[in-house]
Amino acid sequence: MCFSFFSKVAVLLVALIIQMSGVVSVDNLALHAIKSEITEDPQGVLSFWNDSLPFWRGVICGSLHQRVTGLNLANRGLVGTLSPSIANLSFLRYIYLDNNKLHGSIPPEIGSLFRLESLSLPNNSFTKEIPNNISNCTKLLHIDLSGNIAIKCSNQSIKSPTKRRFQEFYS
Ligand SMILES: *[C@@H]1O[C@H](CO)[C@@H](O)[C@H](O)[C@H]1NC(C)=O
Ligand SMILES: *[C@@H]1O[C@H](CO)[C@@H](O)[C@H](O)[C@H]1NC(C)=O
Ligand SMILES: *[C@@H]1O[C@H](CO)[C@@H](O)[C@H](O)[C@H]1NC(C)=O
Ligand SMILES: *[C@@H]1O[C@H](CO)[C@@H](O)[C@H](O)[C@H]1NC(C)=O
Ligand SMILES: *[C@@H]1O[C@H](CO)[C@@H](O)[C@H](O)[C@H]1NC(C)=O
Ligand SMILES: *[C@@H]1O[C@H](CO)[C@@H](O)[C@H](O)[C@H]1NC(C)=O
Repeated sequence: MCFSFFSKVAVLLVALIIQMSGVVSVDNLALHAIKSEITEDPQGVLSFWNDSLPFWRGVICGSLHQRVTGLNLANRGLVGTLSPSIANLSFLRYIYLDNNKLHGSIPPEIGSLFRLESLSLPNNSFTKEIPNNISNCTKLLHIDLSGNIAIKCSNQSIKSPTKRRFQEFYS
């Protein structure tokens, strides 16, 4: 009786470890790729992104599947570009990168994040157009690109109800 209880617990633990190492191989690679394009990190927040910590700073994971569902790196003074590998975080629903110094273009790969609900990039130095591919993010409800350099948006790329929010925040 007792033995079978402990062996069940052991089986569950092994299953959990296998599940978590799955996260390590998929989302971990993407997070490291994101980190690799950040050239300055004055608060050292990404220095906490290493394989030994299950809970990385600024990274929100789903409680059941342990996949990355949110990135909250607002107000961190980050300098660099946004890696297209962000699209490999396929469970991502929230991206908050407000008030950093990120430049370059918004990667069109973001269009494959079909669970994305919020794309918040105000007060950075992103340039060029919002990629049309973002129209594939059909759950996108909130998009804030205010305070960026010369971002243009073609008419088709943002659909209602996001479009209204977008116009509100676009400047
Ligand atoms: C992202 O996914 C693509 C396609 O599956 C793969 O080729 C690429 O190596 C991945 N990048 C990272 C950083 O995981
Ligand atoms: C990972 O982060 C922890 C906490 O900051 C640190 O103590 C440890 O040395 C780091 N490990 C590596 C391999 O960088
Ligand atoms: C963007 O969408 C176009 C189709 O409109 C597709 O050909 C292209 O591969 C997509 N790019 C990315 C990076 O997903
Ligand atoms: C953007 O920066 C301005 C000026 O510092 C600030 O007033 C505004 O609140 C910032 N916007 C956001 C969304 O943080
Ligand atoms: C949106 O996704 C569909 C397939 O899911 C693809 O055929 C289409 O080219 C994508 N459009 C854009 C603009 O990425
Ligand atoms: C956006 O709309 C304006 C006016 O309705 C039109 O002139 C322009 O061609 C449209 N641009 C695109 C990329 O569809």
